[in-house]
Amino acid sequence: MASVPPDKPLDILILAAGLGTRMKSDHAKVLHRLDGRPFIGHVCRTALALGPRRLVVVIGHQGEEVKAAVLKEVDSAVVEFVVQDRQLGTGHAVDAARPLFEGVDSTLLVLSGDVPVIRHETLSSLIQQHGLSGGSGAACTILSVRLEDPTGYGRMIRDKDGRFNRIVEQKDATDEERQVREINSGIYCFDSAKLFDALGRVGNQNAQGEYYLTDVPALLKADGSEVAVHRHNDSFEIEGVNNRAQLAELERLLRKRTNSRLMLESGVTLIDPLTTYVSSTATVGRDTVIHPNVTVEGDSVIGRGCVLRSGSRITDSTVGDGAEVLDNCVIDGSEVGEGCKVGPMAHLRGKAVMRKGSKVGNFVELKKTDLGEGAKANHLTYLGDATVGEKTNIGAGTITCNYDGVNKNSTTIGKNVKIGSDTMLVAPVEVGDNAVTGAGSVVTSDVPADALVYGAPARVKKVLASDPSKEGKS
Ligand code: UD1
Ligand code: MG
Repeated sequence: MASVPPDKPLDILILAAGLGTRMKSDHAKVLHRLDGRPFIGHVCRTALALGPRRLVVVIGHQGEEVKAAVLKEVDSAVVEFVVQDRQLGTGHAVDAARPLFEGVDSTLLVLSGDVPVIRHETLSSLIQQHGLSGGSGAACTILSVRLEDPTGYGRMIRDKDGRFNRIVEQKDATDEERQVREINSGIYCFDSAKLFDALGRVGNQNAQGEYYLTDVPALLKADGSEVAVHRHNDSFEIEGVNNRAQLAELERLLRKRTNSRLMLESGVTLIDPLTTYVSSTATVGRDTVIHPNVTVEGDSVIGRGCVLRSGSRITDSTVGDGAEVLDNCVIDGSEVGEGCKVGPMAHLRGKAVMRKGSKVGNFVELKKTDLGEGAKANHLTYLGDATVGEKTNIGAGTITCNYDGVNKNSTTIGKNVKIGSDTMLVAPVEVGDNAVTGAGSVVTSDVPADALVYGAPARVKKVLASDPSKEGKS
């Protein structure tokens, strides 16, 4: 838990009710995605890392959707929601939470739902400074940063001695004030009782006709309370997203950081970092080589010494050590084992599992299928709802006919089986160990172990010797 003034618990309020009109979108701004996750998801994850006593999210515009996005990231037991019915400004948004904080004496950290890459370490320093300022803690501590281009942000106006004077919004600022490069991040620590007291006195006589939270610090100062500024030196973290150009820029910066970390700390070779897209929550092992135009999404885990070739997309999946993913593969919610080879142009989805040393080749799709150790499906195949035993070879053009129009049915194929080219396995069906199917077979009933079947529908021709190496010669 971050350090707070003695005896004061830490509460966090996230403002996420706004429309975000400058996004020119049908979706609320905080639902837009950065690094594959909605902004609000990023902010919630960071807030939780601080271990607050209470986490409250202010929702309004598309509130149900925003709530659902929050609950994807945070357990419903640790988050509360308050509704701001009409979006009349950031001060008005905080005021919607007043009933929850009536009579409460806490340190209240206010976060913006549209400042997604702020780090919890930075917030901890802000909270710490807030606790230290003015002996028993300041009434308010504002997180600020200096920007080369401060356009659009609220400016920090200081007095002659460099002390905080007030925040002025871009639209209300004079030309001279607009020259100021120190901006308000929209992130603050407040003494909760003092915040709500001052908030009651905020008006909306300004260029936007809104109740600005940014008016609170000056009111607190006029009351004789201490207002402190915590100036951060990393502008990247403070970037708010108000339009799509800012979103693209933030995505680029975040990618640059992730790629630097992969190369310098994890020992990963990126052939072209400019066209490598790895999620900040994915991990990649030492000596793995990533070719241009590879995307690794979500919480994927890529092992050591892997090769990921161009055009492949790996989402929420694991790839074991030494595995090779050739060009243009899609691997979604699946597991590729150690030393496996995938692709080119293969598709794994629905919790597909490739066991150690197995291979999946050109134009092969695996859905909810467990491919055994050393098994191969090298060409033009669909395996859905199937289990394939170790060292089995699936011939070109094989299909598990898993859907009968109503239900999905499973196919179980044993060990050391040779499925001939163009075999249709009409599920539910089982093929026993060491069995062989002839090319073009349509298998509609179970195949015993050690049997050779062929034809349409396939019938047992004879039972083979148990030595699998002789099976193909009969
Ligand atoms: C705000 C600050 C500005 C600061 C900037 C930093 C104010 C008045 N201005 O401006 O000084 O430099 O953030 O990024 O606070 N929201 C609500 N309800 C509302 C309005 C907004 O919940 O009625 C939420 C939005 O969803 C958003 C956050 O508050 O997550 C900030 O609102 P936004 O409209 O983006 O404020 P900015 O113009 O960026
Ligand atoms: Mg904003």
